[in-house]
Amino acid sequence: MDTIIKKITNSPEDKEVYQQAAQIIHNGGLVAFPTETVYGLGADAMNKAAAAQIYQAKGRPSDNPLIIHIAEVEELGRVAEEVNEKAKKLMKEFWPGPLTLIFRKKKEVPFETTGGLDTVAVRMPSHPVAQKLIKESRTVIAAPSANTSGKPSPTQASHVKEDLYGKIDMLIDGGNVGIGIESTIMDMTVEPPMLLRPGYITMPMLEQAIGKIQVDPFLAGDMKEPVKPKAPGMKYRHYAPKAELFIVEGELSQVVAKINYLAEEKRKQGYKIGIIATEETKGFYCGDSVRVIGTRKDEASIAKHLFSVLREFDKMGTEYIFSEAFSEENLGQAIMNRLIKAAGHQIIRL
Ligand code: TXA
Ligand code: MG
Repeated sequence: MDTIIKKITNSPEDKEVYQQAAQIIHNGGLVAFPTETVYGLGADAMNKAAAAQIYQAKGRPSDNPLIIHIAEVEELGRVAEEVNEKAKKLMKEFWPGPLTLIFRKKKEVPFETTGGLDTVAVRMPSHPVAQKLIKESRTVIAAPSANTSGKPSPTQASHVKEDLYGKIDMLIDGGNVGIGIESTIMDMTVEPPMLLRPGYITMPMLEQAIGKIQVDPFLAGDMKEPVKPKAPGMKYRHYAPKAELFIVEGELSQVVAKINYLAEEKRKQGYKIGIIATEETKGFYCGDSVRVIGTRKDEASIAKHLFSVLREFDKMGTEYIFSEAFSEENLGQAIMNRLIKAAGHQIIRL
């Protein structure tokens, strides 16, 4: 299959791009598109065969449910039952935006979309391309991140192309995404509502809106214990670069010294190494494989570049990556959640 790639140019020609994409969705095909978090791989959420195709293109385990993307609040009624007051508050506060909510599903939603579960994950993206695509398609769109299962999520069209070219019908190139990590997921079917995946909408923001929330015990654990996550997708060693990744945690000057030491050891053994640094520390590392992920003064800058830095190291054939650790406060919770997974839990604590 040839994948049609179309760029959004913010000109009248875009109209045709949306029409073509909507037609593909309507016919049960697959279209990758940008959202504000990461690129998604979309299909008609109400069409079993189309949803099943998503799993095939990504090589995704069939028990890992998809998120349904809607463009208007009214569409929630098509897929979800029992939208309680707290959910309504969160929707009012954070939709459209990077927050996914879990509800009981309507029976019309195929189990292919929900990975066999009786619940359904729903989000209303704020990205104008996602909004327009959903509206033009006149349906609701199931979309996981548009990467091959197990690879870092795509934050630009070229990442999608690398993973899925020839396996999907169309890719809409809307440039780089703004946030760079996937949406926050909240299970609204339990009381208090439960955080299943940390994201750009942080715990303090959620609690400010609806009061006390609980956190899936799996998130707090170190994965050595037999706790199963409530979001099936969280259990996989995910976001993983090809290289072995180590996180070094501790006082910053000691971290820098340790990373320089470890990197030099591996370099001497002939391995290709990479270092994940910040604006604040980049000048203290030796060697040419240092990548700046962002600045410690702005956590959002770190989230935004996390996956693209991992992919860049993959491209360079890096074998060992050493990364500084970050604070787990606020957005840091989501950053460290993704980084720790990418590292397969290899953390060196000083
Ligand atoms: O930001 C995002 O959420 C992106 C963009 C494209 O919208 N999408 C995304 O989808 O990250 P995906 O498939 O990569 O991650 C969906 C996560 C998985 O961990 C999955 O297990 C969980 O959501 N999930 C989906 N439906 C669920 C349900 N009914 N109950 C619990 N977890 C669910
Ligand atoms: Mg994903």
